[in-house]
Amino acid sequence: MMDAAHVPVLAQEAVAALAIIDDGVYVDATFGRGGHSCLILEQLGSKGRLIALDRDPDAIEAGAALRDARMTLVHSAFSRLGEVLGGLGLTQVNGILLDIGVSSPQLDDATRGFSFRFDAPLDMRMDPGSGLSAADWLAAATEGEISEVIRTYGEERFAKSIARAIVAARQEEAISSTAQLASLIAGTLKWREPGQHPATRSFQAIRIYINRELEELSQVLPQCVDFLKPGGRLAVISFHSLEDRIVKRYMRDESQGEQAPRRLPIRAALLKPGRLKLVGRAQHASDVEVTANPRARSAVLRVAEKMDVAA
Ligand SMILES: C[S@@+](CC[C@H](N)C(=O)[O-])C[C@H]1O[C@@H](n2cnc3c(N)ncnc32)[C@H](O)[C@@H]1O
Repeated sequence: MMDAAHVPVLAQEAVAALAIIDDGVYVDATFGRGGHSCLILEQLGSKGRLIALDRDPDAIEAGAALRDARMTLVHSAFSRLGEVLGGLGLTQVNGILLDIGVSSPQLDDATRGFSFRFDAPLDMRMDPGSGLSAADWLAAATEGEISEVIRTYGEERFAKSIARAIVAARQEEAISSTAQLASLIAGTLKWREPGQHPATRSFQAIRIYINRELEELSQVLPQCVDFLKPGGRLAVISFHSLEDRIVKRYMRDESQGEQAPRRLPIRAALLKPGRLKLVGRAQHASDVEVTANPRARSAVLRVAEKMDVAA
């Protein structure tokens, strides 16, 4: 394993799902600290190739130490997967892995502003060179926008009161640190979920919004299918029910193909066939893995295979 700072989740299962062939071309669209990438490289032959992406410059810097001629590491959001692969002269690949969400180093690096465990500037961008920081967004967003983000992405039932408190507080002083936001939220909530910091849901929601995590996922899935060879596998690990719902629906719709509108006599031959076949059911981490790595608790792995549509 490359860096113990991030323990890869469902690593054996996800890499096995790719059914790696010796000289195949694979994509790890979420390099992180290279846990999954290293396993893929272990199974690849000398003519195989791995294209690894991450939008976080720290991940790219850490990955430079890997020095494996079969691997090309690219600093990019995975929503630009098609552009990245096209730029490398690739039109088809044998397998793609997405292990979405944040990495442990992102959460554990106090300076990144992802966590209320440390006081730091309220940033939360996976790529600090792109887009608005959480502090800048909270300074400018309307109360309605803040409430909507916290309710939708955090499934926080007290989103309205939290948004009201944020807007009142920022009139006194800009909300620029993680500790400021965490204590503001803690002071607003009258009820706490057992075992959870009161700011957990709001921090998660703001992070998902700031990094456009659900949009990124929705945009990459069709590009993955476009670039997979027939028989090639797509494996996606998600950690949040909203993400998993997107993956599940996308794979299901692509496996069913275009459906005829009810009661309209449309010939089946005119409907677009599905491009994916589901491989097995959703997989979860074993009890042993969850005990060793509690981050694995909410992980869900879904796998699908590209069909030979012309056949
Ligand atoms: C859960 S970690 C992946 C860990 C990795 N599989 C490992 O074993 O070390 C998720 C990584 O994906 C990156 N990431 C998340 N969303 C991304 C996106 N839209 N485009 C590119 N990278 C993304 C994050 O920066 C983070 O490094």
